[in-house]
Amino acid sequence: MPDDRLLAKQAAARRGISFVRPGMRLALGTGSTAAEAVRALATQFPRDAFDCVASSRATEQLARSLGLAVRPLREDDRFDLMLDGADEVAPTLALTKGGGGALLREKLLAGLSREVVILVDPTKLVVHLGDRCPIPLEVVPFAREVLARRFADEGYAVLHRTVDGRPFVTDNGNEILDLRPRRPIEAPARAEADLAAATGVVETGIFVDLASRVLIGHADGRVDERRRTGAPTA
Ligand code: A5P
Repeated sequence: MPDDRLLAKQAAARRGISFVRPGMRLALGTGSTAAEAVRALATQFPRDAFDCVASSRATEQLARSLGLAVRPLREDDRFDLMLDGADEVAPTLALTKGGGGALLREKLLAGLSREVVILVDPTKLVVHLGDRCPIPLEVVPFAREVLARRFADEGYAVLHRTVDGRPFVTDNGNEILDLRPRRPIEAPARAEADLAAATGVVETGIFVDLASRVLIGHADGRVDERRRTGAPTA
């Protein structure tokens, strides 16, 4: 029997693929919710209906295992639509991403996509980024300890992400520092710029002004929608 969160993710994923049309160029996100969207795509469309690029090896493997054709990123790629999940969604639709470690490729593909549709369950809604989960930073391994000390001094609780006692290694060969802010992040764009400015940081998990809409699925099948409007986020 599926649990409520899974049902909510599936509801968001179903609504997400209602934006898909055959022939579209699609960017595929990473994580359990994006995986639901990939499964729904494979079920509802012929395998060669799209031109797909995936944001992680995990998504690429899943999509291929379901018969979807996934290809590498090309120099002139632009996507009609990206379907992805998120770890946190703020009221401005600023996001925290990277719980699955795919933040760099996700941010790259989101920036190349005309529409970025984020699929979440209601537990992901927060007032401030960092309320629910840490902010992931993809860092060059050589710089890790220096960066951990620096961000600790700047007021973050810093954790080096590990799996089975070993460093978590991203698809790009880097590592992840998870930063829990001690104070609410009031200005995500400024926080993103400050974090990204440190030498050795490859990418941050703060995504500002990239989501076009957020679909919030519920266990009973309802889906709420939020769309980004207005001025750039501070
Ligand atoms: C992957 O790196 C992340 O950005 C995911 O999109 C995020 O962690 C959401 O994952 P779930 O859909 O599994 O919660």
